Amino acid sequence: MQNKSYWKESVSVPARNPLAGDISIDTVIIGGGMAGILTAFLLQKKGRECIVLEAGRIGCGQTGCTTAKVTSQHNLIYAGLIKTKGEALARQYAQANQAAVREYESVIRRLKIECDWKECPAYLYADRKKTELHNEYMAALRLGIPAKWTEDTELPFRIEGALRFDAQGQFHPMKFLKALSEEITVCENTKVLKVTDNGVETDKGNVQAANIVFASHYPFVNMPGYYFMRMHQERSYVLAVKGASPLNGVYLGVDDDSLSLRTAGELLLIGGGAHRTGDNAYGGQYKKLEGAAARWWPGSKEAFRWSAQDCMTLDGVPYIGRFSARKQNWYVATGFQKWGMTSSMVSAMILSDQICGEKNPYEEVFSPQRHIGRSAAGSLIKESGHTAATLAKPSKLPEERKENVRTSRCSHLGCHLSWNPDEKTYECPCHGSRFDCKGRVTDGPAQKDISVGGES
Ligand code: FES
Repeated sequence: MQNKSYWKESVSVPARNPLAGDISIDTVIIGGGMAGILTAFLLQKKGRECIVLEAGRIGCGQTGCTTAKVTSQHNLIYAGLIKTKGEALARQYAQANQAAVREYESVIRRLKIECDWKECPAYLYADRKKTELHNEYMAALRLGIPAKWTEDTELPFRIEGALRFDAQGQFHPMKFLKALSEEITVCENTKVLKVTDNGVETDKGNVQAANIVFASHYPFVNMPGYYFMRMHQERSYVLAVKGASPLNGVYLGVDDDSLSLRTAGELLLIGGGAHRTGDNAYGGQYKKLEGAAARWWPGSKEAFRWSAQDCMTLDGVPYIGRFSARKQNWYVATGFQKWGMTSSMVSAMILSDQICGEKNPYEEVFSPQRHIGRSAAGSLIKESGHTAATLAKPSKLPEERKENVRTSRCSHLGCHLSWNPDEKTYECPCHGSRFDCKGRVTDGPAQKDISVGGES
């Protein structure tokens, strides 16, 4: 089965022209995924002129690979946030994401966007981690989220307990993005080569702008900001099967190796197999999902399979706000963990307010300049140690791959690459860049291809 995302295959987004020469505008947004398009949309509503520059096609990155759950239920997060950041900031995080769910609903209703939006409950379920899940339930109640505890779900397997958030949502992300992007000026196939204080230089012309927004998944500028030291990336996998009974809610298991589940039309999406990018030398992630499909939904038939890449921050909270204290007119939206839909909307709400000089009620907890706290400082030390070790260690490529590739080092900062047999890609364990079997960059922060079998 070829790897193809159902979202991308089921919608055709009309092509947009590349940038045609030099222009001058209020705000330039780098990245035509959900975060970039939503930011442009909210800025336009406030009367700002903006343009979105996309290196490929609209939604061609992670937006087309998500499971598109729209929920403030972000795995086991709230109990930890209360502990590490205090109740006020944890509440800010919860309220921002609850507001994001409602804002999606409101935009969809107002613009009458046909994107299969469905209000539904979101569940976390546990088998072994019942105590941790119950702690999360208590934390959610403390923060004012209308959470419920239940042991009764529609899942075909036994669980010990589940945490339910009502009035969450799910939709078709590419149908939504297609409709919303019609309201926005977007230049596709326009690659940003350099960012300056006054705008960006691209392969198709220059854009002079008062404000610059990085919404391209992983910021490709190393300094200032140093995001490469503050994030790693993870991959996860999705199998979409036909012939399984539909689910009313969206689900995520909190035990290791448990599943993410939702229905999309006649398909059941079964997600899982997460690992740090560059750490899947033996493969087998799709096989695990095939095994789950055969066991719990016998008779179901695979229709699509695809994978996604997520940026993971040191303290588990996205970086949304000013890119760096040294660049007052640069803004960033990154580190969405595995919660790209609500995080994109939260980014759009915060950045559009900040660019317009308005205070946003949620900006503090997401500020890229926040103090990260003691446990996140530990993660920073661990990340730096991991990078140093990967730079020094010999190549982890299998012998047959070593022959094909002229350098086993990543074009970002030179870490040794590994091979992912599930994806047939070269992957960097340091910051998560990926290259296809011909050496072409598929995921940053790397910007340059590597040389494979005579092709560059
Ligand atoms: Fe940074 Fe490879 S992604 S060294």
